[in-house]
Formats: sequence, C-alpha cells, structure tokens
Amino acid sequence: MAGLEIENVRAGYRGREVLTDLSLPPIEQGRITALVGPNGAGKTTLLRVLAGLLPACGSVRLDGLNLLDAPTGERARKVAFMPQFVPQRLSLTVVEAVIAALRASPMDMERTSVDAQQRALEALDRLKILDLALQPFDTLSGGQRQLASLAQALVRQPRLLLLDEPTSALDLRYQQQVIANVREEARKGMIVIMVLHDLQAAASWADTVMVLSGGRLFAHGHSRDVITTLTLRQVYGIDAVVEHTARGGVHIQVE
Ligand SMILES: Nc1ncnc2c1ncn2[C@@H]1O[C@H](COP(=O)(O)OP(=O)(O)OP(=O)(O)O)[C@@H](O)[C@H]1O
Ligand SMILES: [Mg+2]
Repeated sequence: MAGLEIENVRAGYRGREVLTDLSLPPIEQGRITALVGPNGAGKTTLLRVLAGLLPACGSVRLDGLNLLDAPTGERARKVAFMPQFVPQRLSLTVVEAVIAALRASPMDMERTSVDAQQRALEALDRLKILDLALQPFDTLSGGQRQLASLAQALVRQPRLLLLDEPTSALDLRYQQQVIANVREEARKGMIVIMVLHDLQAAASWADTVMVLSGGRLFAHGHSRDVITTLTLRQVYGIDAVVEHTARGGVHIQVE
C-alpha cells in the first residue's frame, strides 16, 4: 500500500518505554499530518523512530517496505528528518551544509558537484534564503538556522518528510513561506508529518491532526473534530473555549 503504516510500535530510552504499543491510522501521501500533544508526549521520539535514529519494535511500513529493518541507505534515500533543535556548531556555509545533506543520501553521492550545488541553491531560493548561501551556518539566527535546516531536508526530495516544530522560531512571513513549500511538496505526492505546538497553526495548515498523549494516540481526524474543549481539558489540562472558523481555522480562548 502507498503511504505510511505504523503499528504496535514500542520505543524509549534506557529502561523507560515512551511509546507503548503505538498504532496510528494510515498516513496518506499528498496530505499534511500534524502531530500535536503536550511536552513529553513522545512526538519527537516517534519522529526519531521513523527516521531510524532510535531503535523500536513493531511495524513501520513505508509503501510496504518495513522501515524498521530496511538497510540504512535505503531509508536515508526515502526519509528526511528536520530536528526540533538544529545543531549550533557547524563550520560550513549554508550552501555547503545543504550540499552535505544531499550527499547523505547514497543515491545522490554520485551527482556532480555542479549539479549538487545547483540543487542546493534552488532549495535555498525556494525558501527565500538565497542571500544566506555563503554565510557560515553557526552565525545564523535561530529562525535562519531553522530555514536552512528545512532546506537540508527538502533538497533531498524524500518520500517521507518529518518536520519537528519547523516554524517555532519563524516570523509570520517565513511561516507562510515554509508552509507554502511544504504544501507544494505534499501536493506533488510527498508524505508529510509535522510536529506542531500551535494548535491554531495545526488546524489551518494540516489536513489531518493526530493528538499524542503519554505515548498513545488520543484522537485523530479533521481539526474540527479533534481540537475540542474536551481534548484541551483531557490532554492539556486546561479549560478553554474553542471556536472553529468556516475557513478551517480555530480560535482558542483559555479561560
Ligand atoms: N535522550 C533521552 N533520554 C532519556 N529520555 C528521553 C530522551 N529524550 C526524550 N526522553 C523522554 O521521553 C519522553 C518523550 O520525549 P519527546 O522528546 O518524544 O517528547 P515531545 O512530545 O517531543 O515533547 P516536546 O513537545 O517537549 O518536544 C519525555 O518524558 C522525555 O523526558
Ligand atoms: Mg519534541
């Protein structure tokens, strides 16, 4: 089956299981899935499992291929992960860092350096950060670093794009820039999972919202059915008035 299927996944850290038998409904291509939930719910842990950065038991199938025992090279070709915390120290220029990300995928290793450079510059241009190309990565601002990190993920044109809070440091204009790019990739057929804390952003950007709480799936579906007073009370422990707008957005007023 085309898409991502996650079943009975268990994963955690030394002696502590964070994801306890987690199964999610199939995640389809061409759609944006937002993963939301409180701090410590296991969102990053799940993305790290999908990216192959953390061992897990269970089944994770991408277009039928079990990612949990796929060869590293094959997984690297298909999955790109933008981490929540972008490394501070990286003594490369932005364009060099994007080229290095491109080379991390074995299929791309054989590309000529001119071709790799061209693709890296195009990725920066798409995110409107071409002017940062020659700036050392470790001199970037927080938001610029986030954009450069997204360029590193997008340049690889993965089948599965995993974004961990990709807009948390971005101003409004760049948030729109990022979401427009991600939407475009989804429209062309990529599978996109985006961890977000901002429930209003999740409602307006994602086609499907999944709420993770305590390593388990609490709810999933259209934001209208998932981001509710009940979810806010049971998952976040807050009382709030939730109003969904006709255009798919949501207003949350905490009482
Ligand atoms: N490297 C680690 N070693 C041990 N425990 C960890 C490690 N990373 C995360 N944890 C624990 O696993 C649990 C889930 O963490 P995770 O980072 O997946 O949460 P999250 O949903 O991404 O939270 P946040 O919204 O704060 O980013 C937390 O209780 C956390 O303390
Ligand atoms: Mg996290």
